[in-house]
Amino acid sequence: MMELRIQLIPTGEIILPPGKNGENYCHCCKVVASDGVRAMMESALTARDRVGVQDFVLLENFTSEAAFIENLRKRFKENLIYTYIGSVLVSVNPYKDLEIYTKNHMERYRGVNFYEVSPHIYAVADNSYRSMRTERKDQCILISGESGAGKTEASKKILQYYAFTCPASEQVQTIKDRLLQSNPVLEAFGNAKTLRNDNSSRFGKYMDIQFDFKGAPVGGHIINYLLEKSRVVHQNHGERNFHIFYQLIEGGEEDLLRALGLERNPQQYQYLVKGNCPKVSSINDRSDWKMVRKALTVIGFNEDEVEELLNIIASVLHLGNVQYGGEEGNVCITSDTQIKYLARLLGVNGAVLTEALTHKKIIAKGEELMSPLNLEQASSARDALSKAVYGRTFTWLVNKINASLTYTDDSHKNYSVIGLLDIYGFEVFQHNSFEQFCINYCNEKLQQLFIELTLKSEQEEYEAEGITWEPEKFKGIISILDEECLRPGDASDLTFLEKLEDTVGGHAHFVTHKLADAKTRKVMGRDEFRLLHYAGEVNYNVNGFLDKNNDLLFRNLKEVMCMSENKILNQCFDREELSDKKRPETAATQFKASLAKLMEILMSKEPSYIRCIKPNDSKQAGRFDEVLIRHQVKYLGLMENLRVRRAGFAYRRRYEVFLQRYKSLCPDTWPNWQGKLADGVATLVKHLGYKPEEYKLGRSKIFIRFPKTLFATEEALETRKHSLATKLQAGWRGYSQKSKYQKLRTSAIAIQAWWRGILARRRAQRRRQAADTIRRFIKGFIYRHRERCPENEYFLDYVRYSFLMKLHRNLPKNVLDKSWPTPPAALAEASEHLRKLCMQNMVWSYCKKISPEWKHQMEQKMIASELFKDKKDNYPQSVPKLFVSTRLNGEDINPKVVQALGSEKMKYAVPVTKYDRKGYKARPRQLLLTANSAVIIEETKLKQRIDYGALKGISVSSLSDGLFVLHVSSDDNKQKGDVVLQSDHVIETLTKIAICSDKINSININQGSITFTVGQGKEGIIDFTPGSELLVAKAKNGHLSVVSLLNLPHSQSDGFSKLKAEM
Ligand SMILES: Nc1ncnc2c1ncn2[C@@H]1O[C@H](COP(=O)(O)OP(=O)(O)O)[C@@H](O)[C@H]1O
Ligand SMILES: [Mg+2]
Repeated sequence: MMELRIQLIPTGEIILPPGKNGENYCHCCKVVASDGVRAMMESALTARDRVGVQDFVLLENFTSEAAFIENLRKRFKENLIYTYIGSVLVSVNPYKDLEIYTKNHMERYRGVNFYEVSPHIYAVADNSYRSMRTERKDQCILISGESGAGKTEASKKILQYYAFTCPASEQVQTIKDRLLQSNPVLEAFGNAKTLRNDNSSRFGKYMDIQFDFKGAPVGGHIINYLLEKSRVVHQNHGERNFHIFYQLIEGGEEDLLRALGLERNPQQYQYLVKGNCPKVSSINDRSDWKMVRKALTVIGFNEDEVEELLNIIASVLHLGNVQYGGEEGNVCITSDTQIKYLARLLGVNGAVLTEALTHKKIIAKGEELMSPLNLEQASSARDALSKAVYGRTFTWLVNKINASLTYTDDSHKNYSVIGLLDIYGFEVFQHNSFEQFCINYCNEKLQQLFIELTLKSEQEEYEAEGITWEPEKFKGIISILDEECLRPGDASDLTFLEKLEDTVGGHAHFVTHKLADAKTRKVMGRDEFRLLHYAGEVNYNVNGFLDKNNDLLFRNLKEVMCMSENKILNQCFDREELSDKKRPETAATQFKASLAKLMEILMSKEPSYIRCIKPNDSKQAGRFDEVLIRHQVKYLGLMENLRVRRAGFAYRRRYEVFLQRYKSLCPDTWPNWQGKLADGVATLVKHLGYKPEEYKLGRSKIFIRFPKTLFATEEALETRKHSLATKLQAGWRGYSQKSKYQKLRTSAIAIQAWWRGILARRRAQRRRQAADTIRRFIKGFIYRHRERCPENEYFLDYVRYSFLMKLHRNLPKNVLDKSWPTPPAALAEASEHLRKLCMQNMVWSYCKKISPEWKHQMEQKMIASELFKDKKDNYPQSVPKLFVSTRLNGEDINPKVVQALGSEKMKYAVPVTKYDRKGYKARPRQLLLTANSAVIIEETKLKQRIDYGALKGISVSSLSDGLFVLHVSSDDNKQKGDVVLQSDHVIETLTKIAICSDKINSININQGSITFTVGQGKEGIIDFTPGSELLVAKAKNGHLSVVSLLNLPHSQSDGFSKLKAEM
């Protein structure tokens, strides 16, 4: 889960600190705290809502100055010092350190859209940077506001922002450091404490920061404008000279001061005592000195250069202390020590310098004459030298810094720049001189530029509002000033004033004592003129105007300086300057020209504006001086600025930005609009229900007339965010599940592929083996008849093996099963052995299973088989019928017969039919077999007993009849001859008789007929014939004719096979 951290910052707005990698989490999501308190990560717009509005454009009552100032005040109270008017940043100097310039803040604004975050100078800086990078167009940031409003601070913040946020290589790091360090140096030499600002810029500065195509700062260039040199020699009460003098005296090491001949006391120096303000509580000269020294090193000053630079600074202090004495016409310098120091520090000849400071070289009729100066002239010559030395050194310093910032890599000449303009602000003092005139002229020019660039389209309306601007009037004043300076004769500051009255006197914005009404006269001196600037009225005192504009340095002083051994001065004072006969351009004209150039530079770039406001005149934190602020709001034209923005549409945004922010509110534009941006925005606002009068679609922007329309849209977005969050979550979950699934899928595929590979390899291997086997097999087959050899051994083994396996599967199931696989030749013998073994085994196991009864049965059946098999036709029918122990039981046999038999045990009894010997009459009888004899019973009588000894044989036919003849020995008289009997179980009966009588070999099976003895030598014959019906009868020939049923040998074979199966 993403961790949401909320950080409250002193501006009162809530921001989220950036993530680890600098990314910014959405600052618009809501967080519901555990206690139910809802901490809102407010959107930019709702945050604006809380403390006034973040953008004046969103003020409902936009025409009311009171509402405007109230909004400023509300925000100022909450330390919200930044507010937009559209893209213009209004900044109110807090006069205290706010915790809004940390690295976190820089990260916060990096790459974030201007409107998405609370107003900040970083947002402006970032916006310019991004525009530069994306559009490859040079940018400039114009910082304006009166002295002390925070312009210089703003420019430093911007520089720091770039130094921190822009990509950097090692080489670039040096440039970054130099860019940053150029500030303390230039401030030390060019800033001073004034009544308006403890660190007032006394020069104008335009700085180009150069970026390579990767967006890294690779170089820089500074242009300086008109340093207020007069400050070197004079300061108003409560003001100071340039910081560097105090820093040197306070911070300089003892050795250094000694070498420079300085004392650690500013009161000792005439140039430092005029303002009577050597110490300022907000300034620490000593620590600033250290900073400056370090900065000089970073910028690339070597020790010699630093020494020479400080020599010059010290020499200016010494110059200030040069005292003049003597009488008029014979002025001399009273302080020799100063000259000694000066000679050494400036690297010039002391005597020459002394002369130059007291004389003026004039060329009359081709001859050079040295004319002595009077006291006043001498001291102004001295002051002129001080100013020239200091001013030119300052310019040298800027050049030196520029050299160190020069983009050295020639390979990529092409770079983009962001220009930073921090120029002295509009200022009004008790006494305003030439410098204020120039400064205010400059501000007027800048205001003109601002109006031209921002309010141009509605310029008429702007003018109608009564805010006019007319820097042109300056031009008139400057040309008159120049005229007076160049005019031979008794031109003076006062004649200049008169000329002004004559020429521009009619102008509504120009007043002098003479021209003014009585009321104004009271507050104006006779030597003053008043200009009505855009920012207010200023009275300028004409004293010194001509001199300052001439900026003259006597030729002999120049010559002295040209001979200086100080390398810096040597560069500052060029000998060519001496030979140049042309009069140098006046200061005002130079300034005017440089300003014109500046305007050109600025016009060629995409501008951004920072309008600085000073909340009070006492440099106090938290004091909101409404009168002062209203004045600034008025002259900065902020209301007009706002009105212009609002006149058309309160709110404008580039199509892509608008669409990006609100696209989620319309199904057609969500999540992405594919067509033209303008169409997308049109679709979106149509869906949102904007009325035609509420908005206009421009070429690249949408313009919304009323803030409430925007608020409604913003609210809708707020609501929509929740559902979007849910959707995003769902989307994310879906995505993560899908990717999980994809992972599983690819894993499964990988495993499958792997496994298929294994299988395929196995199959291939098996195929290979199979092929090998088949090949071996075929070879073996070819060589099968050879002796066992490597080629056939497998085959032979296989044949054997397969025979044995086949045998194993197909062994005979029982003894009657005679099937046996055909063995290969090699195994013929073994096969035979096996077959026998198998049979023996089966027999043996069959025998083991046989019960005694069954054995008995079998024995009898065996005997029957031996006797009748294939001999008598009805034998097969008898096979399946089991032999029984007897066919007659006790109750079937008459007890008398049993009694008659006595102890003789009966072994078998069966009902039979007996045929008479004579008439072949059939009579039912019972045949009983005992141990010794066969007995024929007629009911109760034993009719005939045939001892087995007397039984000669037994005859039976081969047919299927049941007749048989017991042949009895004729020796026995008791016998009446052979007995003809018929049994339904003839095979059983005969088998029993044969066993009991042990007459197995005495059974005869006859074909055709049987002859038997009837008694007393007589014979009978039985004829057997096959027929369709069983018939036993006496034939005509006196024979017994037996017609046997034609045997149907297999009709009852089922029973037989059943018996077989049992075996
Ligand atoms: N953003 C700021 N935060 C804190 N103090 C500021 C800020 N801007 C200006 N100041 C204070 O106001 C003083 C004057 O600001 P400065 O930028 O020098 O004014 P300007 O250049 O407009 O004359 C600074 O020295 C500083 O003390
Ligand atoms: Mg400044």
